[in-house]
Amino acid sequence: MKKTFLTFILASAVSTTTMAQVPVYLDDSKPMEERVEDALARMTVEEKVAMTHAQSKFCSPGVQRLGIPEVWMTDGPHGIRPEVLWDEWDQAGWTNDSCVAYPALTCLAATWNPEMSRLYGKSIGEEARYRKKTVILGPGVNIYRTPLNGRNFEYMGEDPYLASRMVVPYVEGVQQNGVAVCVKHFALNNHEVNRHTTNVIVDDRALYEIYLPAFKAAVQEGKAWSVMAAYNLYKNQHLCHNQYMLNDILKGEWGFDGVVVSDWGGTHDTPQAITNGLDMEFGTWTDGLSGGASKAYDNYYLAHPYLKLIKEGKVGTKELDDKVRRILRLIFRTEMDRNRPYGSMNSEEHYAAARRIAEEGIVLLKNEGNVLPIDLNKVKKLLVVGENAVKMMTVGGGSSSLKVQREISPLDGIKARVAGKAEVQWARGYVGDASGEYNGVVTGQDLRDNRSPQELIDEAVKMASEADCVIFIGGLNKSAGQDCEDSDRKGLNLSYGQDNVIAALAKANKNLVVVNISGNAIAMPWIKEVPAVVQDWYIGSEAGPALAAILMGDANPSGKLPFTFPVRLEDNSAHALGEFVYERSNEVIDVKYNESIFVGYRWADKQKKVKPLFPFGHGLSYTTFVYGKAVADKKEMSADEVLTITVPVTNTGNREGAEVVQLYISDLKSSLPRPVKELKGFAKVKLAPGETKEVTFTIAKDALSYFDDARHEWVAEPGKFEAIVAASATDIRSKVAFELK
Ligand code: GLC
Repeated sequence: MKKTFLTFILASAVSTTTMAQVPVYLDDSKPMEERVEDALARMTVEEKVAMTHAQSKFCSPGVQRLGIPEVWMTDGPHGIRPEVLWDEWDQAGWTNDSCVAYPALTCLAATWNPEMSRLYGKSIGEEARYRKKTVILGPGVNIYRTPLNGRNFEYMGEDPYLASRMVVPYVEGVQQNGVAVCVKHFALNNHEVNRHTTNVIVDDRALYEIYLPAFKAAVQEGKAWSVMAAYNLYKNQHLCHNQYMLNDILKGEWGFDGVVVSDWGGTHDTPQAITNGLDMEFGTWTDGLSGGASKAYDNYYLAHPYLKLIKEGKVGTKELDDKVRRILRLIFRTEMDRNRPYGSMNSEEHYAAARRIAEEGIVLLKNEGNVLPIDLNKVKKLLVVGENAVKMMTVGGGSSSLKVQREISPLDGIKARVAGKAEVQWARGYVGDASGEYNGVVTGQDLRDNRSPQELIDEAVKMASEADCVIFIGGLNKSAGQDCEDSDRKGLNLSYGQDNVIAALAKANKNLVVVNISGNAIAMPWIKEVPAVVQDWYIGSEAGPALAAILMGDANPSGKLPFTFPVRLEDNSAHALGEFVYERSNEVIDVKYNESIFVGYRWADKQKKVKPLFPFGHGLSYTTFVYGKAVADKKEMSADEVLTITVPVTNTGNREGAEVVQLYISDLKSSLPRPVKELKGFAKVKLAPGETKEVTFTIAKDALSYFDDARHEWVAEPGKFEAIVAASATDIRSKVAFELK
C-alpha cells in the first residue's frame, strides 16, 4: 500500500512539474494567439528585431534559447530551388537537392481546372516540406498586361477572375503540408525592366478590378500565410514598405494576419520599413539574382538601425511587436506545428502530377487538314526541327531556375513514344541560346553550332521534303530578353530567324506542326501557311512525354489560353494606350497604365476592326462540342438573390474530351465605362462521345459589380445584363438577358 501511495505521489509530482514546465507557447493545445502572446512576452527587444530580417540569403532567425525555430525561405513557384551558399547566390553544391520541375504557372492557368491547382500545390508543397523549408516564394499572380514582360511565364494570365479561381487551391494545397506560400509580387509588378524604380500610376478601378483580385482571393479565400511585396513603387513609395498597399489594403481592408516579406533587395528605408507594413526584410543590397553586398545583415534597414532608434527612444516597439506577432503566427503554422506531414520528393506521384498538369495545359491553337493527331499508321518518317526540341528549359529564367532530377526533352519524348512505329530525325533549324549554365547550375548540353542560318535552313528543308510529317519546336527560352526575370522582350516576334525557318518548312512539307514553347504571346507571320499550331508552355520534368501524348493523340488537348495572342504588339492596350519603357533607368520612372481596366480581351472586345490572332480562352480539341441554349432560372434578380444559368453541352465527336465552358457577364448600361464583357465563371466538363451534360453557373451580385472609385466601393447597378456562354472570348455560343432590380 505504502509503496503504491509513494509511487502515486512521485508520479503526480513529476507530472505536475512536467505540466508546469511546458510554457504556453510550446503547448499545442493552447489557442494560437495565446501562444503568440506568451512567446512575445518572453523575447528581448534584440531577439524581436533580429526576427524581422534575414541572417543569410534565404533564412531568418528564430529564438535559439526559447527553442523557436528559424524561418527558411525557398524559391520558387515551379519547383524547389537548389541550395545556395549561406551568404552567396552561388550553388552550395549539395547532392540531395535535385527536384521535380512542375509546369510554369501559365500552363497551370491554361488548364482552367482548379483541381489541377490543388494537385500542383499539394505536390510542390510536399517537396518543400521534405526539403525542410518554411515558405515557398510563390505563386506569382501578377496580371499579364503586356506580352513583353519577362516573367509572365511565372504568372496566371490576363484575367483576374481566372487567376483568382486558380490561385486559391494552389495556396490550400501547399499549406496543407505545413509550408507557407508567399504570394507575389504584391503588387503592380507587370514588367521587369526598371522593376526597382518603376512608379506605377494606375486608377483605383484598374487597381481593384484587375490587379488586386487574385491577391485578395489568395489572402481571404486561400488564407495565404505570407505575401511578398514587389520591388516597384506605387504612389512614390516602394511596395516593400507601402502605406497604401500593405497597411490600408492588405492588412486593413483585407484583414491579412500573416507576414509581408520584402522582395530580395526591395527594402530602401528604415522609418518606412518600420511603419509601412513590412514584416521581414530579405536580400537587401542585392539585385535579387546574383549580385550584392556580403555580410550585411546587421546593417539591414530593420537590423541595427532599427534597434538603435528603439534604444534611443526615437521609436516605440508597437510596430515591432506587430511584426513579431505575425512572424510567430507563421512559425506556429509551420515549423512548430507537430501534426504537419513529412512531405516527399521526386516521387512517381509527383512526376505523374507534373505530366497530368502539362497535358491538361497544352493548348491546341490551330488544326486544319487533320495533321494532328499524328497517325502513326501513315506517318513513318517524322522530322523534328528546332532548338527547343532539345534545349533544357528548367535552367535559367531567373529565381525560378531549378536543378532537376530529370527533364525529358520534347525530342526524347517523341522518340520514346513512336519507337518501333516511325523513324525520327532532328534538324537544328536555328541557333538561339547555346548557353548551358545559370547561377552555377549546368545543363550539361553543348548546343554550340557554327553553321550559318542558311545552312541550317537548307538542311532542315532538305530533310523536310523527305519526311511524312514535320514538327517544328521553337519559341522563346529562359535567356535574358526572352522569358527571363529582370528583362523584357523588345518585340512580339520570335528571335533567331525562326520565322524564316518556319516559312521555309511550310513550303517543303504541308504536314507541318509548329509547337511554340513560351510563357508569352508571339507573332505568327506564317500562320496562314501552317496547318497546325500548339502552344506548349514551359512544362517541366515531363515536357517530352506530355507533348508527345498530345501530338500522337494519346491525350486529347483541353487547354485554353489564359491570355490574348494579338496579331501585332500595338493591338495590345499597354502598347496602344498605356506606356511601356524599354530603356533602363536608375532614377524613379513613372509608368502610367493609361488603358485602365481595358487589359487583354477587355481591350480587344472594344476594337471594331482588329481581331486577336488567338483570343483569350481559345483552345481546340480532337473532338467537337455543341452548346445548347443557355437558360436562366429567372428573368430578373434582386441584389440579394442568385441567378442560375444552365447550358447543355454535347460531345459531337468520336472521342472523349474536356471542354471549358466560359461564362462572361455584360452590363448593357452602366454609369461608369465597363468592358463589353468580363469572365465571371468557367467549368471544365469531361464528355464521352455523344454525351451531354448540363453545365450550371450561379450568378450573385458580386459578378455584376464594378468598383466605383469615387465611392471606393463595389457597386452592382440595377439594369439590364447579359450572361454570355462561350468557348472563348470571341466564340460566343449562347446569351441570356436578365435584369438586376
Ligand atoms: C527575386 C525575385 C523573387 C524571388 C526572390 C528570391 O529577385 O523577384 O521572385 O523569390 O528574389 O530569389
